[in-house]
Amino acid sequence: VRKSQPAIVTIFGVTGDLTKRKLLPALFNLALDRHLPEQFLAIGVARRGDLETFRVDMREGIDQFSRRVPASQDSWNAFANKLDYLVGGFSDPTLYERLLVRIRQAEAEWGTKASRVFYMATPPEVFGTISDGLGAVGLGGDHDCDRIVVEKPFGTDLQSAKELQAQLLRTFQENQIYRIDHYLGKETVQNILALRFANTLFEPIWNRRYVDHVQITVAEAVGLEGRGGYYEGSGALRDMIQNHLLQILCLIGMEPPVSFDADEVRNKKAEVLRAVRRIALGEVRQYAVRGQYGATRETTGYRQEAGVQADSSVETYAALKLFIDNWRWQGVPFYLRTGKKLARRMSQVVISFRPVPHQAFPPDASEAFEENRLVIDIQPDERITMRFLAKEPGARMRLRAVNMEFCYDQAFSAPSREAYETLLQEVVEGNPTLFMRIDQQEAAWEIVAPILESWLGTPSTSFPNYAPESWGPEGADLLLAREGHRWFNNAVA
Ligand code: BG6
Repeated sequence: VRKSQPAIVTIFGVTGDLTKRKLLPALFNLALDRHLPEQFLAIGVARRGDLETFRVDMREGIDQFSRRVPASQDSWNAFANKLDYLVGGFSDPTLYERLLVRIRQAEAEWGTKASRVFYMATPPEVFGTISDGLGAVGLGGDHDCDRIVVEKPFGTDLQSAKELQAQLLRTFQENQIYRIDHYLGKETVQNILALRFANTLFEPIWNRRYVDHVQITVAEAVGLEGRGGYYEGSGALRDMIQNHLLQILCLIGMEPPVSFDADEVRNKKAEVLRAVRRIALGEVRQYAVRGQYGATRETTGYRQEAGVQADSSVETYAALKLFIDNWRWQGVPFYLRTGKKLARRMSQVVISFRPVPHQAFPPDASEAFEENRLVIDIQPDERITMRFLAKEPGARMRLRAVNMEFCYDQAFSAPSREAYETLLQEVVEGNPTLFMRIDQQEAAWEIVAPILESWLGTPSTSFPNYAPESWGPEGADLLLAREGHRWFNNAVA
């Protein structure tokens, strides 16, 4: 599909937070950068509201959340003219008939067919209903031009993911289904591919012979941000590990692709998930640790948050030890951790290399010995650091770890785009490389299934077990200590 093909993006559930904070600011910035076709229409669909209120609301959202503020009146007016609004219940068949009429009208004006994107910014319970509604009026039937974008969660476990897939397949084919994982739209996450496959330097050492272990951390300083109701049905394992962290694991662990074809990249990523060693139900304790934050004098604990049960056993922290059973990674632990209300916001991958095979320096030279590390900071820092040993200046030979750094903001003058800008542009242009294919989605559910079953089956007796602004529960330290490792809470110092 050529970029110049007109596009119509229909957003279902447009009154929700996602549209105001992310989707509309992203579309607006794409329009400013001329990454959207001239002939473009965004239709908001919701149970109530009207076009004028929608415009006012979206303008507010852009002023508050766009990476470029304030928006000039002219650019906003031009964009606001490309917005429309439809009111209706998602199970009301006439809604889809009206949508079809509106789409046809725009296409008739433009004199050509548009690429049509249907964005599910709704609660997951209605994904299937909307997809069926579209199918009933023939929308979705054009396998080249029609696409559906599904926000996470894609199911709540393997079984429900399969059921949702079956529902979507009644209207769409797999290559029309774009499952969003917004981490894949982040510049620093995409750069993992560039780092690995555009350079000769790293690939020869990117394996079990040189890599000792890998740590993937997505730590958040924030708590629930008013999403208690959703989070009670989710927890950290489903909210973050099943998607974001496992996707990062794929990028670190995958074999070099033959090309950057969507399916080639996705095949290589799917292979990683297939190779992740499945954890037996009885062994979950050896591989996974959960945590829940408590209260302090100043802040509420998880169990006191709005929408949360007073005896909730939902985890706000999860740490996993995984192994990838293939030639490249056999025996190398991959540690994953994520949590809310942790010491600070930090998304980071650390590749920790093996020590040198022979230590020729006298003991007093290498008192400060450290293994080499490659540290990939995804956010809020956007940088890559190589940490290695150097000789301290002076008469004697003494070794000290030093850093060699690449920082995005110093190397490039343009600020990073928002993940949703990248992802929406890819959907409009019909490139599914950055989206999760169903086999990845199912494999990811399979990996977390035993942990989920074990945790849901045995409520924790030790919750809450970590303090806000800490690095999580003690059990997570033990998980690594058993292998002679420790978490790098500050990997570059
Ligand atoms: C979302 C989760 O997918 O990712 C949230 O549902 C989490 O709970 C968010 O806060 C983190 O995204 P980011 O881009 O702020 O790291």
